[in-house]
Amino acid sequence: AEKDGHKHFMHKEIWEQPRAVADTIRGRASLEQGDVLLDGMELSEGYARGLERIAIVACGTSWHAGLSGRLMIEALARVPVEVELASEFRNRDPLVSEKVLCLAISQSGETADTLAAVKVARARGARAYAICNVVGSAISREADGGTLLTRAGPEIGVASTKAYTTQLAALYLLAVKLGRLRGALSAERAREHLEALRHLPSWMEQMIRQEAAVMPIAKRCASARDVLFLGRGGQYPVALEGALKLKEVSYIHAEGYAAGE
Ligand code: F6R
Repeated sequence: AEKDGHKHFMHKEIWEQPRAVADTIRGRASLEQGDVLLDGMELSEGYARGLERIAIVACGTSWHAGLSGRLMIEALARVPVEVELASEFRNRDPLVSEKVLCLAISQSGETADTLAAVKVARARGARAYAICNVVGSAISREADGGTLLTRAGPEIGVASTKAYTTQLAALYLLAVKLGRLRGALSAERAREHLEALRHLPSWMEQMIRQEAAVMPIAKRCASARDVLFLGRGGQYPVALEGALKLKEVSYIHAEGYAAGE
């Protein structure tokens, strides 16, 4: 692990995002078939069509990725999705059955609350799946339905960056896959989504290259006492994640808010 000329690992990992997301997608999005090949996850048409609900469990940044995943899965696969902090899920009496798919999202695959939530879901009959960055981690071993690896590479910075964006790409692939299996998404529509996903790394690259334009905004925020991040729809979970990032790396108080509130 080297910083390769970057001031710190978080900066290096921000710049690694286009490559990391390209790796998440590589070999999984088939434009010819208008379908997704999910290595590591066992998902049959019968199982996907019989699902009553998906329960996503995660912590921190991975939970924010889950909130975005809900929007993707509900839109493309037309199945209800609930997203819960793993620490809450494990400490209540959740309604789970064999018709519930439990999806754990975790960069490390070792977060105790997420692991415990998966065990609770499995004990109540759900099949568990994981989106994870670490091969052979505790959560991926507990996921009897399999694990979709994000392939972000080691994340050394404490604040999650490329792990988060690769989770979003993995969730997008899963949403398209479930949409195809459940008959909610045609091959043609799937192809459009996969085509857009294919361009994502180069769009991310363009975005990251705006660093010089971001600097003056950061300088203005540096003297703020509180910062509010506002977003609606797809931008709401991003606002929550933005606020978490600012808190973690600057200790400036920040809150993410649904814009309508
Ligand atoms: C945020 C961050 C933490 C983790 C959380 C879950 O930048 O790093 O909030 O997201 O501890 O960790 P994983 O994804 O490893 O389960």
